[in-house]
Amino acid sequence: MRYNERLKIRAAAPDDLAEILRIQAASPESAGWSEAAWRELLAAPGAARAWVATPSDAAGILGFLLVQAADADEAEILDLAVDPPRRRQGVGAALLEALFAAHPGEIFLEVRVSNDSAIALYRGRGFTPVGSRRAYYHSPVEDAIVMRRTLKPAKMQPKRD
Ligand SMILES: CC(C)(COP(=O)(O)OP(=O)(O)OC[C@H]1O[C@@H](n2cnc3c(N)ncnc32)[C@H](O)[C@@H]1OP(=O)(O)O)[C@@H](O)C(=O)NCCC(=O)NCCS
Repeated sequence: MRYNERLKIRAAAPDDLAEILRIQAASPESAGWSEAAWRELLAAPGAARAWVATPSDAAGILGFLLVQAADADEAEILDLAVDPPRRRQGVGAALLEALFAAHPGEIFLEVRVSNDSAIALYRGRGFTPVGSRRAYYHSPVEDAIVMRRTLKPAKMQPKRD
């Protein structure tokens, strides 16, 4: 079953902490923010904001996305993770689509060079590699690929007389 039509995306709330930490613990590729950092962020979101995907007809969280927005024109994805049994059902893509609607400008992210599933997701949603950061990650040490999504300029309409 795909979730495309059957999920809701909303701002994360303090009550979501346990579910977010559960999904994060099950996703070693995620950024792994500390419980204290999450608690602070959920209590008073500042430049960094978290969104969660939930089934539209049931409790629980399917995945989360953490984004930092300098302004409306530029945002950075700090973290994205989907509950392992709910992967390949469109949840990650739906979280990205919600982000694109809110931030139509440039979006950047870093991803481990070995993280094929995330790279496939990002490429399929218009991100392209624009650089790398050596030994950016620890445990294990690994390079990051920097990816960027830029909106294509709207097509020029032919002039009508
Ligand atoms: C990366 C991640 C968020 C993807 O979430 P997801 O909900 O499974 O992704 P979707 O179902 O929306 O996938 C959308 C597309 O991405 C690509 N994709 C996703 N997972 C893939 C995989 N394991 N292998 C190949 N392609 C994959 C596919 O093109 C897929 O479309 P399809 O299912 O129609 O083929 C999820 O695998 C995850 O939580 N990984 C661990 C945390 C992580 O790596 N976060 C990224 C940090 S930068």
